[in-house]
Amino acid sequence: MPTQTLRIGVLTGGGDCPGINAALRAVTKSLILKHDAEVLGFLDGFEGLVERNVEPLHYRDVSGILTQGGTILGASNRADPFNYHPRGGANVSAQVLKTVQNLGLDALVAIGGDGTMSIAHRLSELGIEVVGLPKTIDNDLVGTDRTFGFDTAVHIASAAIDRIHTTAQSHHRVMIVETMGCHAGWIALHAGLASGADVILLPELDYTVEEVARVCRERERVGQRFTIVAVAEGAKQKDGEHVVQERDDRRTDSLRLGGIGNVLADELREFVDSSVRTTVLGHMQRGGTPTAYDRNLATAFGTRAAALAATGRAGIMVGVQEGSFTTVPLADVAGHTRTVPMDAPLLASALDLGISLGVPNPDVKTNAEPVPPVPS
Ligand code: F6P
Repeated sequence: MPTQTLRIGVLTGGGDCPGINAALRAVTKSLILKHDAEVLGFLDGFEGLVERNVEPLHYRDVSGILTQGGTILGASNRADPFNYHPRGGANVSAQVLKTVQNLGLDALVAIGGDGTMSIAHRLSELGIEVVGLPKTIDNDLVGTDRTFGFDTAVHIASAAIDRIHTTAQSHHRVMIVETMGCHAGWIALHAGLASGADVILLPELDYTVEEVARVCRERERVGQRFTIVAVAEGAKQKDGEHVVQERDDRRTDSLRLGGIGNVLADELREFVDSSVRTTVLGHMQRGGTPTAYDRNLATAFGTRAAALAATGRAGIMVGVQEGSFTTVPLADVAGHTRTVPMDAPLLASALDLGISLGVPNPDVKTNAEPVPPVPS
């Protein structure tokens, strides 16, 4: 009896990031080459799944896209099938299930961030075989130490801070650089440390203006007449509120953060003599070609997700933990955020260098492990 050809769907949900096309290429090529499967791409994330906007992905369609930013399928963060705003917030998941059955899909690979993984989990509870593939510049998915897109965002942000440094020096200014990252401070921490920021403000540690001003004034006092502050968009002042750019209930995450850099500048002006300027890096961090690291991570995730989808293992997300590839149940990922823990080694290194985290004596685990003795 001839065996039926495997048919796997793929979509890219949520905000885009560099490396998605590399992942799509890996998923598609390995499904075709190794598993002799047919691949269908849904357009604009879950919207394509609801509206049945779908097209076959052939080998040729994904050739030459390894280095391209964005996603050739399009993405949307306003298309939750359980709360589908184009139809007044209706739950259209039953329709999605029917579409998956009518198309004869054996599995669906969902490339996305936290919102996508939560939807993927709910769809898998309905009986759809879903494999998750973690992408986001925020690096905030539970179950994986890295998401692809993050490394590229850190490179872009640190290159920007490097450039801010020279103009800060010339004008003896306080320069604030606001990074993305949602409620996690990974981008600000990694880019700030890589580019020699003097103050790094994270969502995980509420700052005080007095402490930031202390650093600026102290640097002035010792003749270093400029200060670089890297601030994550999700950071906030102690006892203060998050600075929100927009509320949009159609998004999977209704609050769009942004603007803390300008708020902080206004607060600081009352405390320091130097002029203060803010640069908001914004979507620049999500655009353009992925780094080699992100291309390879996306490729490794993609081939693994393809193998899992082809062999009937679903309800899981691929990830990397402590240097090894792994899988985690979507149930463990959905609805959680991986923020920077207080024992993150880079936090301790920042403190050892005299970098301020915006609070005096933060409760950070120090690099206290003894250096191993030199063998005799
Ligand atoms: O999750 C990625 C991210 O870029 C966040 O860092 C940021 O808060 C958000 O998306 C911005 O969303 P949008 O693309 O809808 O402006």
